[in-house]
Amino acid sequence: MKLFLDSANVDQIREVWELGILDGVTTNPTLVAQQGRAFLDVLKEILDIVDGPVNAEVVATEAEAMVEEGERLAELSKNVVVKIPMTKDGIKAVSLLSKRKIHTNVTLCFSAAQALLAGLAGATYVSPFMGRVDDIDWDGVELVADIAEVYHKQGIETQILAASCRHPLHVTQAAAAGADVVTMPYEVFEKLFHHPLTDIGLKRFLDDWEKAKAVLGGIQ
Ligand code: G3P
Repeated sequence: MKLFLDSANVDQIREVWELGILDGVTTNPTLVAQQGRAFLDVLKEILDIVDGPVNAEVVATEAEAMVEEGERLAELSKNVVVKIPMTKDGIKAVSLLSKRKIHTNVTLCFSAAQALLAGLAGATYVSPFMGRVDDIDWDGVELVADIAEVYHKQGIETQILAASCRHPLHVTQAAAAGADVVTMPYEVFEKLFHHPLTDIGLKRFLDDWEKAKAVLGGIQ
């Protein structure tokens, strides 16, 4: 399973990219608006950092305008994935863009039926929003598992990009449920590294080494 960062913050993206374990980035209009900078400037900077899929969302709502916007975004780099909302116009736009070999991600997916439509339209990715499903007291991870089952049985190649990830458990549960990608905010990514027993264990190793060093000498 691949890890994407759900962020439009170039400092965060650069830091995580340098770890060597990041595969791509997802943005959305909310995340870009939070940066208070021109969309295309932010997007170009992300594309300069990340050598992998970079998702940029259209803001048009009619199919023809979505396609136009998507084509303009795709011209920036082969790594651009055009994110399109799960509407009737969105599905039409995805069908047209995928025929033109432009990578797409159907976003705001909340049911296996919607994911089926995205798959039939030839989307590269579909984004079930786990956290927002949990927010209404349904099960976001179960949604990922349902989509994985439908795609597997129907031979649909669209990749499941589990989004709206709120905590580390979402990451591992989505992986077990069959997600191809999980995208997560910087804060969740950061949490994946930490475990109190790692901190306690490392402190103990270093304390023991300090004590022994006084008697036995250092490494050299
Ligand atoms: O990019 C879509 C997404 O991951 C949204 O997450 O936390 O706003 O539901 P959230």
